[in-house]
Order: sequence, then structure tokens, then C-alpha cells
Amino acid sequence: MGRTVLVVGGGGREHALTIGLLESPSVSAVHVAPGNAGTAIIATNHDVSAGDVDGQVALAQSIGADLVVVGPEAPLVAGLSDVLRSIGIPSFGPHAAGAMLEGSKDFAKKVMLDLNIPTAGVQHLTNATDLDEAVDRWGAPWVVKRDVLAGGKGVVVTENREEALDFILESIETDGMVLLEEFLEGEEASMLVMMDESGFVALPCSQDHKRVGEGDVGLNTGGMGAYAPAPVATEEVRNRAIREIVEPMHVHLSTQESPYRGCLYVGLMIDSTGAPSVVEYNVRFGDPETQVTVPLISSDLCDLLLAVAEGRLESSMPTFSTNHALTVVLAADGYPGPPVKGRPITGDLSDGIGSNGRAFIHHAGTGISDGQLVSTGGRVLAVTGIASSLADARELAYRKLSDVQLEGAHFRRDIGHKAL
Ligand code: AMP
Ligand code: GLY
Repeated sequence: MGRTVLVVGGGGREHALTIGLLESPSVSAVHVAPGNAGTAIIATNHDVSAGDVDGQVALAQSIGADLVVVGPEAPLVAGLSDVLRSIGIPSFGPHAAGAMLEGSKDFAKKVMLDLNIPTAGVQHLTNATDLDEAVDRWGAPWVVKRDVLAGGKGVVVTENREEALDFILESIETDGMVLLEEFLEGEEASMLVMMDESGFVALPCSQDHKRVGEGDVGLNTGGMGAYAPAPVATEEVRNRAIREIVEPMHVHLSTQESPYRGCLYVGLMIDSTGAPSVVEYNVRFGDPETQVTVPLISSDLCDLLLAVAEGRLESSMPTFSTNHALTVVLAADGYPGPPVKGRPITGDLSDGIGSNGRAFIHHAGTGISDGQLVSTGGRVLAVTGIASSLADARELAYRKLSDVQLEGAHFRRDIGHKAL
């Protein structure tokens, strides 16, 4: 009998994890809660929301889960992994104390400063006095961050002083405080690190596209597309990031009373000299980074995630393929503002196979209404190409995307532009 796995969440990341787990020889069944229309086709969906800790625990028990893989941060911050471990169910994803690295940007900064990990300087603003002095300290561009979980949307980066001041005042009013960060120059990359007390391994680095518009303009989003491996993270940059950023954090986390077991997502800024610093930590897989990273793991994904959940990663290191992957997010009308939902998604959503690789759909905000596939969220789906070169992966993804129709939807035509 193979393993039974529960995947918590319902986005493109969770669809990618579900596909990877079903391709694992050690897995016989995958359940997803709540899942989406894509996971419903290949696995068993359950109507339990990701943030419902009691509901997820009861579900894991009722299906006899051998492993729970937690996709989003909210249930981790709420302690889902703590509860699962206390009843003997292995959970991939850190305990609530570890999840604070994402749950509070303020807390994460303090840990980085204590450990001497390179990151942007920060000022904590709690009232409206002396704001001029604060915003003049580093000058433009201004990076203002609310210290709340906001799905990548609680951050404003702007050259406009008035806009920065308005967001600072608004945030102080709603949250009682806000962070003003030093602006870091450079190119971003995402490093997903599998980590437990026995060791860590960095997966191939990827690059997300956070702004809504082509050429990296417009509002921040959860991510409009990604590709991997990202050439900006050269061998030298990766080694330096591991030495200066990952190792000290691993020493810190593995010596806590209860160890960190899960993915540590390191958002890197790499300057023109190749020096990496931390933009942010997340305590989960990235979305859409997972869609381009999981397909590059050639060993059994479940073996890897279960080993991390049980604290024995060192004895179960993964292997990787030499392929390239690129994914393009199709977003709903209105996104990253309030999206229009419930519109029909039509066209040919079947896998595309070319002589140079393949392309397929990662569902995200999709559901079925009256037998029709419809949009249910902001990021509706992502089209992912896999090939032996990045250019081929890109061509396959965009060709497949042209088969899909959703009224008012938008996507970026320049995913991968920095590498191509
Ligand atoms: P965060 O949610 O902290 O990852 O911020 C969202 C995005 O804002 C990042 O992916 C960056 O593109 C940008 N950003 C955040 N902090 C900085 C910074 N200190 N310097 C430059 N850009 C930043
Ligand atoms: N794509 C960015 C994130 O997952 O936070």
C-alpha cells in the first residue's frame, strides 16, 4: 500500500504539489482541501477551508493521512503543524513559532539583525510625528510594508513621496505601526530551501514577476509568472546566499526547542556585484514558484517532503532534472484589485505536447458551476511549459495559453524576459 497524503490549500501551488505527489511512486492517494477544479480531476477534493485548523486535522485523521503538506501560510501561523504533530501525523510546514518569520515582518527583521544576515535597514513607525525625518532618511524610492499577512499586497514601493506618506498614515491608522525599509537595488530571485534539524537543501532558484504590468510596472501582485532555474542566481551567488543567509538561519532554527520542518522561502535581492540580501522570508512554497520548481525535482517528491516532516532530510536528499520550466499566470479582470469571479473558462485545457517539451495547466482560482468551468479567484490559472531550454519552455507555455479563453483576463507577455 502506498502513502496517503493530504495537501492543504487550493491554489496553483497546491495543484503543482498534487501533481508532483501523484507522480511519486511511493504515493497511492492524494486528498486536497479545499483544492480547485484542477485538483478535482486528479485527486479527491474536500470542502474544508485551508484556514480551518480543526477541520483539516479531522480530515487528516479520517483519511488516515501518512503526511500532510501545508501550502499557504495562514494555517501554519495558526498552528496546524503543531496540532498534527501532537497527534502523530507528520506535517510538512513549520510550527506556529517558526511561521512567525512570515507572520511578522518585524519579527523576521529582528532575527536577521541578531544573526547578521544581510537585509535592508528598517524603521518602525508608530505615529504621525517626525514622519518627514523618517522618509528623508534614505530618500526615494520608498518601501513601505504593513506588518500583516496580505498575500503580497501589503507592500508599496514608490518614487512618489505623497503616496508613501499616505500609505504610512493609512497603515498606522489600521495596524498601529508600519515598517519603512531601505530600498535595495538589484535583481530578485526566490530560493526555496527544504529544511529540518538534520540539514537543508536549496531547490533550483526561480524568479517571480511581482508587478502586474509588463516591464515590471504597476501594482504588486502575488506573482504573475515565474521560471527556473534563474540564471541571475549563479553558482557563486547561490553559494554565497547559502553561506551568509541560509546557514546561519539553519543553525538558529535547528537549535530551537522545537525544530523548523518545511520550506523556508528566501526572497533574495542580488546586487550588481553578486551580493545577495534578504527581501523577505516566507515559511512555505512560493506561488507561482512551486509550479516551476516541483517539475524540476526528479526524485520522489513524497519521500522528500515526508523526510523533512520527520526531521531526517539529511538521509533523503533529492535529485534534479536539467530541464527548464516557465509559467504564466492568467489573472481575472480587476486583479490585483477585487477580481471579477464566476466567468466561464473555455478552450482547450488539455496538456500540450511538442517535440521540444510539454505544457500544461496549473489551476488556481477555478471551480465548477452548473457543469461549467468558471473563475473563482484573482489568479485563475497558470500555464506551465517544461523543456530542455528556457526559450522552448516559454514558447510552449505561451502557445498553450493561447488555447484558453476567459473574458477580461490579463497576463504578462514578458515572463522570463530577464533571462532570455
Ligand atoms: P515583500 O512582500 O516583502 O516580498 O515585498 C514585495 C515586493 O516588494 C518584493 O518582491 C520586492 O519586489 C519589493 N520590495 C520589498 N522590499 C524591498 C526593498 N527593501 N527594496 C526593494 N524592493 C523591495
Ligand atoms: N510568489 C511570491 C510568494 O509566493 O510569496
